[in-house]
Amino acid sequence: MKNKTQQTTGPIGVFDSGYGGLTILNQIRAQMPEYDYLYLGDNARTPYGTRSFEVVYEFTLQAVKKLFELGCPLVILACNTASAKALRTIQQNDLPTIDPTRRVLGVIRPTAECIGELTQTRHVGILATSGTIKSESYPMEVHKLFPDVTVTGEACPMWVPLVENNEFDSEGADYFIQKNINQLLEKDPEIDTIILGCTHYPLLIKKIRQFTPEHIQLVPQGEYVAHSLQDYLRRHPEMDVRCSKNGISRFLTTESTAKFEESASIFLSQDKVEVESITLE
Ligand code: DGL
Repeated sequence: MKNKTQQTTGPIGVFDSGYGGLTILNQIRAQMPEYDYLYLGDNARTPYGTRSFEVVYEFTLQAVKKLFELGCPLVILACNTASAKALRTIQQNDLPTIDPTRRVLGVIRPTAECIGELTQTRHVGILATSGTIKSESYPMEVHKLFPDVTVTGEACPMWVPLVENNEFDSEGADYFIQKNINQLLEKDPEIDTIILGCTHYPLLIKKIRQFTPEHIQLVPQGEYVAHSLQDYLRRHPEMDVRCSKNGISRFLTTESTAKFEESASIFLSQDKVEVESITLE
């Protein structure tokens, strides 16, 4: 059994609660176009950001198992909420019994690693879901690497629903975006760098920029996650050979395929996205 799983080659799995992970997939594919990818969006149960630790862990584990079943040797949790609430338990408790030769990686650590170089004032803001903010994962990861940096978080519970409902460019989005940015900057006016700590937020970047003072840089995480994955595969050739390389991406959703196809083609700036519907349990 072990030898068999060790020989398994397949696409890199990319998981998110919905469409947000497509912003990560975009960057990963741009940097590593030769690899195959299998994207899974749990659109039927999104958002995860306001759900309990137990529920996010249970849903994420179901998704990881499904992607393993479909042949992925490596899965990226392209979701901060899942990375914050489920990654460590899956890595430490579940992987050893499911298949110790496969790997699950998250997006928080690679993002935390870039912070030291980006901030001059050493005051950084994180915009993320309530789940990610409450988990304190960002301050913990950043302080391990850069103890001198002050990290202030602001939960933006309305932002993911705006994206999932295609309202990211609407006037209705203005109120919530302006409100959360103002609240963050009131908590710490010295912030010079804001991390978009939710993979959905790059879709809102025009509006976020509009309501953020010009001297503050906005940092979407896709590029850093892509670099970190590339570096990981360079350092782990035994995993790299197991990742198939035909330049093919496939998409799965737990919701209706029509809705996913329409939104995903916008997010990926791609004419046509073919998607299959699956159930997670
Ligand atoms: N894209 C997920 C993240 O990065 C959104 C979570 C949600 O479903 O609320 O946190």
